[in-house]
Amino acid sequence: MRLVLLGPPGSGKGTQAKWLKARYGIAHLSTGEMLRASIFEDGELGREIRLLMESGELVPDDLVVRMIEEKIARPECEKGFVLDGCPRTLVQAEALDQMLSDKHMGLNLVIEMTVDPDEVIRRISGRFSCISCGASYHVTFNKPLSDDTCDYCGHTEFEKRSDDSEETVRKRLDSYWSKTATLVSYYRDKDLLQSVDSMKPVNTVSLEIGRLISNYVG
Ligand code: AP5
Repeated sequence: MRLVLLGPPGSGKGTQAKWLKARYGIAHLSTGEMLRASIFEDGELGREIRLLMESGELVPDDLVVRMIEEKIARPECEKGFVLDGCPRTLVQAEALDQMLSDKHMGLNLVIEMTVDPDEVIRRISGRFSCISCGASYHVTFNKPLSDDTCDYCGHTEFEKRSDDSEETVRKRLDSYWSKTATLVSYYRDKDLLQSVDSMKPVNTVSLEIGRLISNYVG
């Protein structure tokens, strides 16, 4: 199963991709997480990436395409994968099509996650995550079962992302509408697109995604 989750910041791509990984045993490929990891690993390049991310800009296509190509070739992707946050531009979408077609594969489904802009600000300003496993929570909508312990790994330290200020989130939203939203029609034309209402609670959205997968992927 090869899926793409498409949606603005805060639409729940990361939350649902983690659920898909646990439910279907497929790999979760998040370009945001890969880029955040490379900030720590790669000196000069890491600094450039950090500046772009913290100002809400997209990272250059060629870098993202190389990262994804390398991940998709790994054994953990053989059973399938869910792409979270990629593609984000037409260049990335076409490069993904090409790299899958070179392997005689294609995408099964692209799920557009729709959410109101005001809700995005509410969600992101309350988001925090486990520093150990990266599980994402929200101070009101999606708290850990026990206030100070991660539900998934039992760790007790949490952090907030440096690009989650309201000003940067508004820039990330602008970037979604100017550069990424065009992919909705790109995938609709290929008959791959389905939408879910991501304003609903997390579990309801998961159920809806599961239903789409059983209807369209099998
Ligand atoms: P990235 O890390 O991909 O961030 P994003 O797309 O802006 O999305 P978020 O991670 O903020 O939100 P999400 O949709 O995953 O929501 P989440 O599940 O966390 O990218 C960051 C940056 O990296 C980009 O700005 C860019 O600079 C760069 N980048 C990344 N990929 C790139 C690419 N391909 N090309 C170029 N540059 C790239 O949920 C958010 C909050 O809401 C959480 O607190 C969660 O608990 C809560 N929540 C989730 N679902 C619900 C629900 N249904 N109801 C209530 N609360 C919910």
